[in-house]
Parts: sequence; C-alpha cells; structure tokens
Amino acid sequence: MQVAVDGPASAGKSTVAKIIAKKLSFVYIDTGAMYRACTVIARNHDLDYGDEAGILKAIDEDGIELRSENGEQKVYVAGKDVSKEIRTPEISANVSQVSALPKIREKMVSLQRQMAGKTNVIMDGRDIGTTVLPNAEVKIFLVASARSRAERRLLDLKERGIESNQTVDEIEKDIAARDYKDSHRKISPLKKADDAIEIDTTNMSIDQVVEAILAQIEKSQ
Ligand code: C5P
Repeated sequence: MQVAVDGPASAGKSTVAKIIAKKLSFVYIDTGAMYRACTVIARNHDLDYGDEAGILKAIDEDGIELRSENGEQKVYVAGKDVSKEIRTPEISANVSQVSALPKIREKMVSLQRQMAGKTNVIMDGRDIGTTVLPNAEVKIFLVASARSRAERRLLDLKERGIESNQTVDEIEKDIAARDYKDSHRKISPLKKADDAIEIDTTNMSIDQVVEAILAQIEKSQ
C-alpha cells in the first residue's frame, strides 16, 4: 500500500503522516527533508543555489541518508546529523531554488522510489501523487489557510528548539513565497493530483485529520 500526502508548506503533512505511519507500521518518508539536505550540501560547499552540476557532484560526494532513530526520522549529510539545520530560515528560504533544478529532482525521485520499494509506505511532499508514486492507492492533498500554516510553522520551530526571530507575519510571507515558487516551477510543480482527495485542515485538529486519512486508507483496502 502506498499513501501519498502532498500540499503546500506547513499544511500539517509530516505531522499526520508520522502518526499514521506509527499506527499502521508503515515506512514514513519525508521528501522535503531530502531537498532541504541538498540545500545544506550546496551551502556547505559554498555553491550557488542554481549550480546544478556542482550541487549534484557534492551530493554524490557527501551522500544523504534518512535514518529512523527511536521512532524519529533523522537526516544525515556526510555522516553528520543535520536534522535541525535543515529547518533553519536560511535553508527554508533557498530550498525552492534547489528543488527546481531538473537533475536534482531526477536524483531525488529515483531515490524516493527506491526507498518506497515494495513496502507499505506513507510519503509526504509536493509531487508524490503526481510524479513519485503515481499509482499510490491513496492520495491526499492537504491545504490550510496561509495564516494558520504560519502559526503552525512558528510553533513547530519552537518545539524543535530552532532559534528564529521571525514574526508570524514574516513567516506567512516566506511560506507564501515558497508556495508560489513550488507551484510555478517547470518540473513537477506543487499540484493536486486529479485523483487526490483534498482536505482543508484549517479548522481541524491533528486527530481529526489523521482519522480522515485513516478512513480513506481503510476504504481503499
Ligand atoms: O516539506 P518541506 O516544507 O520540508 O519541503 C521543503 C521544500 O522542498 C519545498 O518548499 C519544495 O521546494 C521542496 N520539495 C519538493 N518536492 C517534494 C518535497 C519538497 O520540491 N516532494
């Protein structure tokens, strides 16, 4: 069984996907973390965020690994835990430029398909239902108002212990800019798959969203 969860920034995708993965013993794959890791690599190598060939070479040198440690997903670059670093405002501000590079996407999509393999998987991102797992049995497209997504993002940063001086207004502007770039890039832009079910989570609790997705999974079994 493959479950694809797509949607704009901070719509709650990873929060609910993690809970569902735990409940159903599915493998959880956070594809945004992989593009964020590519961005950390570009920064560490002092590369321009548009330098496709340079970043590809650096990814091959460093390697990106997603590891599950005590039920938490960790991201490693060149053997170093960068799970916190990938969430900093600097990386968030530049990830859309890196993720729009065609060859970087090609590499990540191939890795994501390999990771999904033949196991039960729930994967979250922007192009999972449209490109990475087009045959997924369940496709969910999560949306929420820009304001509530900004508020959630602020809370998430606090909970992860990531220092940020940004106000909720500034975060709202940043995520709107990122969504614009992600929706307007040439290759696999953020877009609801024709067969995806859209859920507006603005006025829903996490539990309610989890229940709604579980109901869809049950229906398709
Ligand atoms: O999900 P998250 O907000 O961590 O994703 C960070 C960025 O990675 C997105 O803004 C987007 O540019 C990119 N991304 C993507 N395709 C995916 C997942 C994330 O382009 N499947």
